[in-house]
Amino acid sequence: MDIKIIIDDKNIKTLTYDSPVLLSRVIRDSGCGFSFPCSGKGVCGKCRVRVTGCVSEADEREKKLTGENSAFRLACLTKATGDCELFLPDKNITALTDGLCSRYSHSPFGEGVGAAVDIGTTTVALYLYELENEKLLSVHSFANPQGIYGADVISRIEASLGEEKEKLRALISKGLEEGIAELCDKANINKEECKTAVVTGNAAMLSILLGEDVTGLSASPFTLADYFGKTVNINGMRTYIPRAISPFVGSDITCALISGSDIMKNEKLSLLVDIGTNGEMAIKKGDEIICCSCAAGPAFEGTGIRMGAPAREGAINRVWQERGKIKYSVIGDKAADGICGSALIDSLALFLSLKMTDETGLIKNPTVFEGQPAIEIADSGVYITQKDIRSAQLAKAAIRAGIDSLLNSCGAASEDLGRLILAGGFGSFISPENAEIIGLIPPGTAKRTVAVGNAAGMGASAILLSRQALEKSEITAKNAASLELATSDFFMKSYIDNMYFTKKD
Ligand code: FES
Repeated sequence: MDIKIIIDDKNIKTLTYDSPVLLSRVIRDSGCGFSFPCSGKGVCGKCRVRVTGCVSEADEREKKLTGENSAFRLACLTKATGDCELFLPDKNITALTDGLCSRYSHSPFGEGVGAAVDIGTTTVALYLYELENEKLLSVHSFANPQGIYGADVISRIEASLGEEKEKLRALISKGLEEGIAELCDKANINKEECKTAVVTGNAAMLSILLGEDVTGLSASPFTLADYFGKTVNINGMRTYIPRAISPFVGSDITCALISGSDIMKNEKLSLLVDIGTNGEMAIKKGDEIICCSCAAGPAFEGTGIRMGAPAREGAINRVWQERGKIKYSVIGDKAADGICGSALIDSLALFLSLKMTDETGLIKNPTVFEGQPAIEIADSGVYITQKDIRSAQLAKAAIRAGIDSLLNSCGAASEDLGRLILAGGFGSFISPENAEIIGLIPPGTAKRTVAVGNAAGMGASAILLSRQALEKSEITAKNAASLELATSDFFMKSYIDNMYFTKKD
């Protein structure tokens, strides 16, 4: 049987199979960028596709996730049983590509044109520079094609331990090649001219890219086969991989620390937090830097939230109250069909302020959505369920417990904090005031919070443009201390204390 894969009305490719096959397998085989947030376990309901032709009937489990008579099918639960056409959405996810960069002496890593890349678990951000005069020529971003193996780092590590290791490596390697070609295209230059790159990311993403063994990242005690800080050949480009600090505080945090974010300049106690599926953070007290990483889970990136979505068209990105009414804004000129992390935080803060939920997170007068207690965001058709609130509570408790643990490691309290720096896409879009209301950041810190954009990408750019920045990244990563949270009683206590929206003392 033949299965046609169609994206944006274009027939991308046709694959042939002898026997019934799951659509998720077909998508993986096709190499098309597509996300399976729960790794195809049939629990998240996010792998929706449109399909015509011969396919299996939807069972009760699938109907529960998509609704009765849905026009969509879940790729990980639907089998092609004969010829069919599979329509994949053009996901249009973009990474935050702005940021701050301090000045280092100009001494580039290479000649001509070079690329700085930040490989995130969800998105990849790329910048193209004319190295001679530090001119930014173009910017591009794309969804990490490894999303087909799951939304979080753990699922990628698990996939990399088995037979899929080479496929994961090839996916990101090909993604980089195409991304750099796109960057060059935007700048009107030949892609062969880009001969140099600096590629940063978390330790798992970079280890997979380099084809290294990730066994040490899969179980405690966690270890890293290679701490990087080396030059390799990737797709024919001379590529520098910055040094990581620990197995779970990667080169991306090293880059964020040297990017010019205030943390390195600030005389006072300052804290850098990058909220992703892992909350990676670093505190600086005097000359000392201490880092940690906590598993927040992907709730704030939309996964595990019933109508959660990344920052794409149709996603509610802001929720507020105006003249007694709940208002919301949507990305793009589209009807709302999901909610992204920034709006989830707004909603939780608003529900709490309006006493629609109590401090334990319990919805007081719920409506029912898919059999669950829920609150609809105004009349948007987008609901936040009780289960979503519980997932968000776990995520925020982990991040807050990480912040409290770093403060505790310095013998400091939140009042001592001169600056709280939020790095990364999510951190740049959240409201610090609402983050403070739900207890994601400590009381009184919203007014001392600044967002610095894609600090990791800016740090990679600094290294590309200056050997001084490269040397600083080496020294910073080698000297930074790591705080182990998995065995920390303080972290566990703080995690439990912070489950509620207002910390219990
Ligand atoms: S339900 Fe298919 S990937 Fe989650």
